[in-house]
Amino acid sequence: MEHEIAVIGGDGIGPEVVREGLRILRAAAEVGGFSLRIVEFPFGTDHFLATKEILPAGAMEEFRQFDAIFLGAIGDPRVEVGLIERGIIAAVRFDLDLYVNLRPVRLYHERFCPLKGKGPADIDMVFIRENTEDAYAGMHGFAHKGGPLEVAAQTMVYTRAGVERVVRYAFETALRRPRKQVTLIDKANAVRAHDLWTRTFAEVAREYPAVKTDHAYIDAACMWMVKNPEWFDVAVTTNLFGDIITDLGAILQGGMGIAASGNIHPGEVSMFEPIHGSAPKYKGQNKANPLGAICAAQMMLAHLGEERGAALVDRAVERLLTSGRIESLSAGALPTDVIGEMVVAEVRDLAAQA
Ligand code: IPM
Ligand code: MN
Repeated sequence: MEHEIAVIGGDGIGPEVVREGLRILRAAAEVGGFSLRIVEFPFGTDHFLATKEILPAGAMEEFRQFDAIFLGAIGDPRVEVGLIERGIIAAVRFDLDLYVNLRPVRLYHERFCPLKGKGPADIDMVFIRENTEDAYAGMHGFAHKGGPLEVAAQTMVYTRAGVERVVRYAFETALRRPRKQVTLIDKANAVRAHDLWTRTFAEVAREYPAVKTDHAYIDAACMWMVKNPEWFDVAVTTNLFGDIITDLGAILQGGMGIAASGNIHPGEVSMFEPIHGSAPKYKGQNKANPLGAICAAQMMLAHLGEERGAALVDRAVERLLTSGRIESLSAGALPTDVIGEMVVAEVRDLAAQA
């Protein structure tokens, strides 16, 4: 079986962490009996500055020909805030209708957790962030721009179909986990449009009697994440709240260096990326932690149906992080390529044992 992967290293540390992710993918392919066809695309801020083009016409059609997209990071202070992020990350999410942003939060060893007295048994949850609507839908405008009477507005957009499909994905995810619990996180007490989430969640829940349900307002959820993270199993939430609470989730795991995500449309070309940004200050220094990109590559293998390869990489990361050889997940703790080599060695070792 050959998988065709479009790779966008992007800005800052993106290309460095993607390089390590690809190394692990190749190692998994070697031992897993599949092959990869990797096509690298130069898109990102350098490309934009050189060509004045963010993505060429036809880029989405081209991406659709692949089995998956592997992205590093986008963001560069040399250009207007958000310009390239919207033009690449958001554009791919919207145009390919990648409606699930799957963000696992898993603590591998208590040494990485900033919370007192919490360990791996307490921090093992999956966030399902809606990925195509909400304040990200682009419905915004300004009036009297620049003047003292300026008005700025951005609309939080939710559709029944958009909410229902992501809520259903959350229930399906919960069915495959031992605890089988889904928490809806919203702000229905203040944002009245969230009533659509309340009703849709209740209706979908009726189809899944085996799944326990829970609810938290986003403000309280942030507090519970720190106080009682063990309460969460699967959580489903809006695009903007999901963006915010998964950074909190990342630090519970040990930092942005390990957090991974999949932008998924089940059964179709999907995009996998670390949650961290481009960290321009670490660019080219071999200091960034590639584990977020490596875990994103692992999620990509699972999406591609390479269960054995995905399980191997998962075990490899787990063994490495419980071995005591990595003290911190922060940038600079170990060189980027050294961490990549360590994971490859674990993958090979595990495959040899099997
Ligand atoms: C993320 C990022 C993006 C988002 C930015 C770069 C637009 O923070 O993937 O979490 O807000 O979705
Ligand atoms: Mn974010």
